[in-house]
Amino acid sequence: MKGVILAGGLGSRLRPLTKVTNKHLLPIYDKPMIYYPIETLCRAGIKDIMIVTGGNSAGDFLRLLGNGSEFGLKDIYYTYQEGEGGIADALKLCEHFAEGQRIIVILGDNIVEDDISPYVRKFEEQDSGARILLKEVDDPERFGCPELDGSRIVRIEEKPAKPASRYAVTGIYMYDRRVFDFCKRLKPSARGELEITDVNNAYIKEGDLYYDILDGWWTDAGQFESLFRAAELVASARENERAAGTHA
Ligand code: G1P
Repeated sequence: MKGVILAGGLGSRLRPLTKVTNKHLLPIYDKPMIYYPIETLCRAGIKDIMIVTGGNSAGDFLRLLGNGSEFGLKDIYYTYQEGEGGIADALKLCEHFAEGQRIIVILGDNIVEDDISPYVRKFEEQDSGARILLKEVDDPERFGCPELDGSRIVRIEEKPAKPASRYAVTGIYMYDRRVFDFCKRLKPSARGELEITDVNNAYIKEGDLYYDILDGWWTDAGQFESLFRAAELVASARENERAAGTHA
């Protein structure tokens, strides 16, 4: 399975931090934001990684990440998204890279505590379809929010005024090859973007979307509060690692 990291956009919710640089190059405690999704994919055994960038400072990704050897990769693939077409629009650029294989997509501003390998293995055991990861949050209205019926997701609403559950759809998505057909059929949403939530709803219509509830902490880092929270979470994780090291 191949991996895709979406690291484009203008990061408008973080201005002026993103006035001259790309959101995903900003620091989260001791590393640039983009390091975290790369490490998440590497830990899950993904070796072919495409980074879709866009907006400001695209060239800096190459300077920062080079050929990926720091992460134990043979190389990294890069592409560039023109404009602000949304997550599903960025994903379209990866059809050629995917070569008909399944893909795992992670939003460049999503940071997770745990190794996601168990979920990836479950997806690999699926005959077909998609798999997403949910996390209980205090503010589901900020995210894609699922309406659940037992073990089934009935539908997902993007930024709902009245959330149907306490869960957020995290920015970690696993898809079979049909994802690119669904992306091509999308129409722009009210915010003028091709929404990943519409892709997931297309899989629900086919009866082929599955989910897990993510263990450990998860956060996005696309707003001042969540950027700050991400740094705090990583800092305390580092502190725990240091303490564990001292006691080992
Ligand atoms: C995006 C998705 C949303 C998802 C979130 C996770 O939101 O559209 O469904 O819950 O990422 O971080 P955005 O960051 O574009 O507002």
